[in-house]
Amino acid sequence: MKSIKIGKFGGPEVLKIQDIEVGKPGPKEVLIKNNSIGLNFIDVYHRTGLYPIPLPSGIGLEACGQIEEVGSEVSLFKVGDRVTHASMPIGAYSEKQVMPEEKLVSVPDGISDEVASCITLKGITAEYLLHRAYPLKKGDKVLYHAAAGALGQILCPWANALGAEVIGTVGSKSKVEIAKKNGCHHVINYSEKDFVEEIEKIVGKNGIDVVYDGVGIKTFKGSIETLKIRGMMVAFGNASGYVDTLDIKKDINAKGLFFTRPSIAHYTVKREELVESAKKVFDAILSKKFTVEISKKYSLKDASQAHKDLEARLLTGPAVIIP
Ligand SMILES: NC(=O)c1ccc[n+]([C@@H]2O[C@H](COP(=O)([O-])OP(=O)(O)OC[C@H]3O[C@@H](n4cnc5c(N)ncnc54)[C@H](OP(=O)(O)O)[C@@H]3O)[C@@H](O)[C@H]2O)c1
Repeated sequence: MKSIKIGKFGGPEVLKIQDIEVGKPGPKEVLIKNNSIGLNFIDVYHRTGLYPIPLPSGIGLEACGQIEEVGSEVSLFKVGDRVTHASMPIGAYSEKQVMPEEKLVSVPDGISDEVASCITLKGITAEYLLHRAYPLKKGDKVLYHAAAGALGQILCPWANALGAEVIGTVGSKSKVEIAKKNGCHHVINYSEKDFVEEIEKIVGKNGIDVVYDGVGIKTFKGSIETLKIRGMMVAFGNASGYVDTLDIKKDINAKGLFFTRPSIAHYTVKREELVESAKKVFDAILSKKFTVEISKKYSLKDASQAHKDLEARLLTGPAVIIP
């Protein structure tokens, strides 16, 4: 079967398509034929080595497919079940893969393979950010960066549906309308304007209750500036670079802020958390709290082009790789 492998960290060119033997599932594992694979910024961090992984390695953490074979002690699933996942072991950019059954969730009718493959990692992330990292309340003023991006398409409308006032930033003129369509009440093009000043005009100085910042180094300080006293800074990604220093006195103490740097793994520690979170995402989609529109589809052999486009900020919404 075909699979994308990396032998060294580097640019998109290190993603190589290879013919490999897929292993047999162990006692508590299943073999899945992937029908659609989610493209995520974390795949870029794995590829570049920002988040180091042992090499050589597969890549990709999110996919939806059909179970083809089950191990001798598998009790949760059977052959033919449609499942999705968003976690290690790494290697979703493959026609088939072996996964532990405890990492899988069943996909309900009404949610296609393609949609499932981009709302498991991203949807569960939106769920834990909005409900558990900071339980969003009606009337909260929220700042979300890169609001026309993949996670933005899920998190912003969901925050809107929860009754928050959503302010989104985007990096180009053409993304402004997309962010509005994603449920942002106000959109700022931070390539042209100082987003801190613009936000002050909307909610006043120190007016934001919570910032969800996945852009990282480029926005971090400004995000903190927008927050109210005792506001919540949720730094959850590094699309523009990693924030690896925090000045507790200046950044946190000055306004008595709360700060968290969470990852999806912290919020899906137990299987019940994974299943419950995925159910909330599926229910939100089925009850039309938000709609998922696939922005682009790539073939497996074009995985490096997918990474180029993602890093060049060309994608507006979730993209998938079809094996
Ligand atoms: N911690 C977690 O659990 C978790 C889980 C999932 C995702 N994440 C993080 O969430 C963020 C969004 O992920 P995503 O997959 O939905 O990606 P995305 O938002 O579709 O793409 C990233 C966006 O970041 C913006 N950006 C700003 N500066 C950039 C730069 N120098 N290079 C590239 N992009 C830049 C771009 O939007 P503009 O052009 O509008 O600026 C770009 O479209 C990522 O940081 C990701 O790592 C974290």
